[in-house]
Amino acid sequence: MIVLVGFMGAGKTTVGRLLAGRLGLPFLDTDTVIEQRAGRPVREIFAAGGEPAFRALEHQVTAELLAGSPAVLALGGGGVQHPATAAALAGHDVVYLEVGYPESMDRVGRDELRPMLRNAGLAEIFRHRLAGYQAVATWTVTTDGRSPEAVCADILARLAPATDLRG
Ligand code: S3P
Repeated sequence: MIVLVGFMGAGKTTVGRLLAGRLGLPFLDTDTVIEQRAGRPVREIFAAGGEPAFRALEHQVTAELLAGSPAVLALGGGGVQHPATAAALAGHDVVYLEVGYPESMDRVGRDELRPMLRNAGLAEIFRHRLAGYQAVATWTVTTDGRSPEAVCADILARLAPATDLRG
């Protein structure tokens, strides 16, 4: 499994789709599966049960997807904060897509579909999460000022020598 982690706006979904296409693997996104499972969008899950309800579902879905068939998996920006999710990432290729806070905000803008953007302490949450991304990452790719294609090419170059070892 190749897992993409990083803050909102890091490009996990865009790069993940490109990468999956190039590798001939399915692309999976935890948020999409969570929405299918819950039968409603992320912002409504937050509105109804708060962040804890979303995190519980997110952990359950992530654990299932990690145990499934090989794919490129984009993890929601807060996913690695769950200790059991972080532990479950061991043994997978985990790519941390690094983005600076200003560029992240430029990319996601005022997205109504991302409830965390309304959190007054978002800059602090960003700073707090960085260590978590680094802790689970097999390696890190910088994305600031770079195109999704360039980021994808970096990942492919890094994966190539290890192809035989992937499961
Ligand atoms: C979240 C990020 C979102 C989504 C949810 C919460 C977060 O995913 O899981 O809105 O806490 O950072 P993306 O990182 O794909 O935007």
